[in-house]
Amino acid sequence: MSEIASKVTRLLEAIETADDAASLEQYRLGALGRKGLVTLALKSLGGIPAEERREIGQTINQHKAALQAALEQKHAVLHAQERDAQMAHEALDVSLPAQSTPMGMLHPISQIIDEVSAIFATMGFAIAEGPDIESDALNFTALNFPHDHPAREMHDTFYMANSPEDQLMVLRTHTSPVQVRALRAEGAPIRVIAPGRTYRSDHDMTHSPMFHQIEGLVIDEETHFAHLKGCLSDFCRAFFELNDVPLRFRPSFFPFTEPSAEVDIGCSHDRGCLIIGARADWMEILGCGMVHPNVIKSGGLDPERYQGFAFGLGIERLAMLKYGMPDLRLFFDGDPHWTRHYGFAPLEFPTLSRGLRP
Ligand code: PHE
Repeated sequence: MSEIASKVTRLLEAIETADDAASLEQYRLGALGRKGLVTLALKSLGGIPAEERREIGQTINQHKAALQAALEQKHAVLHAQERDAQMAHEALDVSLPAQSTPMGMLHPISQIIDEVSAIFATMGFAIAEGPDIESDALNFTALNFPHDHPAREMHDTFYMANSPEDQLMVLRTHTSPVQVRALRAEGAPIRVIAPGRTYRSDHDMTHSPMFHQIEGLVIDEETHFAHLKGCLSDFCRAFFELNDVPLRFRPSFFPFTEPSAEVDIGCSHDRGCLIIGARADWMEILGCGMVHPNVIKSGGLDPERYQGFAFGLGIERLAMLKYGMPDLRLFFDGDPHWTRHYGFAPLEFPTLSRGLRP
């Protein structure tokens, strides 16, 4: 029996020094498990003479109670240590300022579209849309481009491969096909703008093969060229937030307008800065004119009765002018540094009453 006693003493010591739950469990099995010290000792009682059995049995039960108590106590200690460690590890300092999540930025193109839309919305313009992949018929023919006319080549068109000759598809070279779509869908009187992507096979410092325009269209029975001038100069004053914006209307040619003009805005360059409103230089920002009777006819209306104007603004040009971005190519490089520098906070959408600049 003294053999058992010394084993129990050693087990009690081991339990006392156990430093994690797994080793404590090993000692529990060694003491009280199916093949544990106490269990085997109790089993061996059967082979012991009856007169000794009682006393030995009592001793074993005392050992068992001592071991159980030691195990329980150690278990409580280890559990408390574990909880303290977890608390320390998962502690939250609620007085720390929240960690900021990096915020996405609005691309300047989106910002300009929002600004321009807000301005034209106050003048009663609705938004119209058309597809990027457009039929040659709407991109050119319905807009009074005669077949084989050199004006088609001026546009450096991307043609879609495998489209049949009579249903030729192109990447729209301008937003002007939306004029015809809107007239066909809504008739007149109509006052819409149509922002969107446009494509031409052209790539340098001031041209990108994919760029953006905003088309404007006003058709009713009386709108004339002076309305066009008033509308565009009001727009420029609101957009550039200047009272006096010098505009220059240069006679020009587009098959779908007659008369046609290109409009330049006065600006100047000073030590790398672009200043709007000065008259030293001119930068072209849009094409415009009175809608050609053939286009009104394409739109399903009677040109004897209806007339009006259209314009097409280059969005990248507006962005470069207003926010001083020198190189057009960087607009579409997808460089997050550029977007962080030139981008806009997404929730600060512009309105005329609150201001256009965030
Ligand atoms: N579509 C012309 C262009 O891309 C611009 C324009 C639009 C001119 C409407 C006149 C009227 O250059």
